[in-house]
Amino acid sequence: MGTAKRQPWVVGVSGASGTPYAASVIRALLAAGEAVDLIVSRAARLTILDETGIAFRDAHWRADLGSWLGSDDGLDDVRYWPAGDFAAGPSSGSYPAKGMLVVPATTGAVAGIALGLSKDLLQRAASVTLKERRPLVVCVRETPLNGVTLKHLVELDAQGAVVLPASPGFYAGGSTVRELVDFVAGRVLDAVDVPHSLYLRWEGELGAAARRPGGGRGVPVEGE
Ligand SMILES: Cc1cc2nc3c(=O)[nH]c(=O)nc-3n(C[C@H](O)[C@H](O)[C@H](O)COP(=O)(O)O)c2cc1C
Repeated sequence: MGTAKRQPWVVGVSGASGTPYAASVIRALLAAGEAVDLIVSRAARLTILDETGIAFRDAHWRADLGSWLGSDDGLDDVRYWPAGDFAAGPSSGSYPAKGMLVVPATTGAVAGIALGLSKDLLQRAASVTLKERRPLVVCVRETPLNGVTLKHLVELDAQGAVVLPASPGFYAGGSTVRELVDFVAGRVLDAVDVPHSLYLRWEGELGAAARRPGGGRGVPVEGE
């Protein structure tokens, strides 16, 4: 009897503001029992350093990832690939990945993926994901958007990617930064059908989330 084949989600972290979105997605994938193949772009090292104070190092990725996620839970299910390693597993379509989540995605990554540039492993893995017709979620973080990025996003949509802006909704009753981050991460997992409990779902009733235990802390609902 062989062991079950490992089928990871590739998580590509590019250098946009919003590294907490990536941390929440990775934590939730691991909590759901999913394997993760992690790629961190060169620019993402700057955003991780800026937003968390962690200098993310290839040689010490496990310790640095544990610090970033705030826990070592599930790290045995993570495989890390340096962004310059074009011989890495996710650079081939025969590597058994389930799909890829680019979170957060820069406008540069959006352009590179839309145009098929493959300038680093993150972009190459995304191109592979598209050519293999696997799910690709691109969680773009920029505002406002210029015309060329809008064109690239339309191109990604046409190629079958899910364009999912890092745009938290407030209907789920979240009022802390963590809850708003988790809302976006939850929508990323929704796009690939991975179960999670990152936010309270809309149930068809105005104000319901605010009335549920743990929902809507500090967010008054008009008329109540
Ligand atoms: C602190 C910091 C924040 C940034 N935030 C964004 C952002 O929110 N969106 C974006 O598209 N680029 C942002 N950039 C610029 C990208 O990092 C830059 O365009 C880079 O070339 C992207 O490379 P990558 O796509 O390989 O990660 C930011 C850069 C820094 C240093």
